[in-house]
Formats: sequence, structure tokens, C-alpha cells
Amino acid sequence: MVVNVTHRVISPGMFIGTEDADVISFGSGQPDLAPPFDVSKVFLNFSKFKYGKICGEDELKNKLRGYVKREFGHDVSEECIAVTNGASEALDLALRMVSLRHDRKRVLLTKPCYYSYPHLARINHMMPVYTDAKINLEDVKEKSRNCDVMIVNSPANPTGDVIEKSVLRGIQEITEDNGCLLISDEVYHSLTYRGKHYSPKGDNVITINSFSKTYSLCGYRIGYVFCQDMEFIRDICDIKAHTSMNTNLLSQRVAMECLCAPKKHVVRNREIFQRRRDYIYRRVKESGFEVEKPEGAFYILPKTGDSMRMARDLFFDHKVIVYPGEWFGCPGHVRLSFALPIDKIGEGMERICEYVAKL
Ligand SMILES: Cc1ncc(COP(=O)(O)O)c(C=O)c1O
Repeated sequence: MVVNVTHRVISPGMFIGTEDADVISFGSGQPDLAPPFDVSKVFLNFSKFKYGKICGEDELKNKLRGYVKREFGHDVSEECIAVTNGASEALDLALRMVSLRHDRKRVLLTKPCYYSYPHLARINHMMPVYTDAKINLEDVKEKSRNCDVMIVNSPANPTGDVIEKSVLRGIQEITEDNGCLLISDEVYHSLTYRGKHYSPKGDNVITINSFSKTYSLCGYRIGYVFCQDMEFIRDICDIKAHTSMNTNLLSQRVAMECLCAPKKHVVRNREIFQRRRDYIYRRVKESGFEVEKPEGAFYILPKTGDSMRMARDLFFDHKVIVYPGEWFGCPGHVRLSFALPIDKIGEGMERICEYVAKL
């Protein structure tokens, strides 16, 4: 890992995709568990090297159509689905299209929220407006009047919160009444430790999902977006035709196989993450930090005081990666990803305690 030790500078780009045996990483949100089948079996007989369809291969879209109906109760035609380079591209394309079509130029986000949302809003010439992540529907009603789109993310990064079904329904109705679109980012849908995942529905809803977290395929860059508005999907595919073009065909084949794999794999992974959640929550509390128990995803967000300094010191002096709350709009907290084995979580917590004891 190449780091700038002189200036003790840290950034997400420095940590994503890098590994070092000595470093305990509570940083990047990527599952350490394997995909549901031996991915190499796809390589052996895969020989599609030409361009593929911009909005996704028919076979995968057909499978996805059945999957989103079965899993989330969404009834969409294949023309209403686009396969993308992860949820990241889906979010960018959706916001580009919103920005092109609408003129309020504001995106309603929660605070804290996933760190890419404000950047994606600005890249697409829109201003982020914030409402508290502990949703107050009155505030959403007030603010969504002046916004083109709101983004909700449940289970949430970085809080691990799961938004109640009744609240998600309330948000959907309010945004629809206010002529505001609703992007529902559900990349952690399979990691809910309380109740069943609820996926908002309605004519104004754009759903975004990914194979990164549920099927441990972060590096394959495969996700999708769907909504009831066929033209919206067609228009974002027109943009995609001039930007990334088709999504990697090999990744689409692997994604197909994931959807055919027994569901017990996803259930087992959730159980593993739930055990890690219970363990890290106990360790963080025992270490004296104020913290809420995550209800989903694989993040925990203790209150720590000077979080930027803590993240720098832990990385440079103790070889532990944590993400400062500043990156997510919640200074004074650090985000720990528990997508790593329990023994590593234990060792990382020891190092954090050593650091805190010396302060
Ligand atoms: C809330 C949220 N949305 C989207 C993404 C991006 O996912 P993908 O790997 O599918 O691009 C992440 C990744 O951490 C995330 O936490």
C-alpha cells in the first residue's frame, strides 16, 4: 500500500482496493465472504468478446425481472431494467437524467449518508439538501417541495439503520405528492437483522441495487436500476451508450449464476454478519464508546470525539483503518465496517483500545 506518510493525509481512494497483511481494515465496505459458487467455472466456457447490449443482456434482465418480483414484489417489464457497472453507475446515470429533465436542481439526502451521494449530486449540477437520517416526515414534506429527487438508503451506510416500512411508505407518498422522484438505494437489502426488507413502490420510485454486497462481487462491478418509467430507463441507456457502453459481459454471466444459486447462501451470509454485528457492538460498548446497535448492513458508527485525528492516528501509528465520520456528514464519529472475520475484529478493537488508553 502506498501512503503519504509525510502529510498524514487519508482519503477513501487511498484505502479502496488495497490490502496489507499487517493492517486491520474496518474501512472499505466489501464482504470478505466468497460468492455463492465457484466463479472460475464461468471462465472456462465463456467466449463472448463483442459489444453487448447497452442496457444489459436479455438473459440476465429476464432473470432479474423474476427476482425483483419474488424478492421485493416489484412488477416491472424487462424494458424497465438497466444493468450497470455496480450501483455506483446506476446512481450516477439516474442523477444525470434527473438533472437533465428537471429544474429545481436539488437532491434531498439524509445526514449522515453514503459519502458518494453529495459528490454525485454536485457532479450532476445539483445541490444537496439535508434531512436528519432519523426521518421526520414533516421535514421531508417541507424540503422535498423544492427538490427534484430524494435518495433513501435502507439498510443504511454508514449508520446501519433500517427505515420502518411505514416511514418509507410515508416518504414515497410525500415525495410523489410534491412532484419529487425517490431513488431507493437497496444495496444492503439482504443484510437486515430486524424484520423483512421493504422496497418502496410507486410511479416516482427508481430502485437501485447491486451484486456487490449480497453476492460478494464488488470487483465485478455489477448492479442494476429499474422503475415504472420505461422512457427514463431508455434515456439513461442512451447516456450509457456514450459513456461506459455495455456492462462487462463476463460479470453479467456471473451475476446470472448468482441468481440461480440456492438462497441458503444469502441466508448463511446474513447469519455470519449478524454474529459479527453482535460481537463488534459488544466490543465497542465495552470500550466505552456511545453507540447504537446496527439493524442492517455491515457498519457501526460509534461516537469518538475528534474522528479525523483518530482515523489518521489509527492508520499511521496503529495500522488500523477506520473511516472518519466527516466523510459521511457526521463528524465526531468513526465508521467501522465489520466485513472481516471475528478474530480480526477482536485484534482491531484491541489496537483501538490501546490508542484510546494513551490519549
Ligand atoms: C449505500 C451504497 N450505495 C452504493 C454503493 C456502491 O455499490 P457498488 O459496488 O454496487 O457500486 C455502496 C458501496 O459501498 C453503498 O454503500
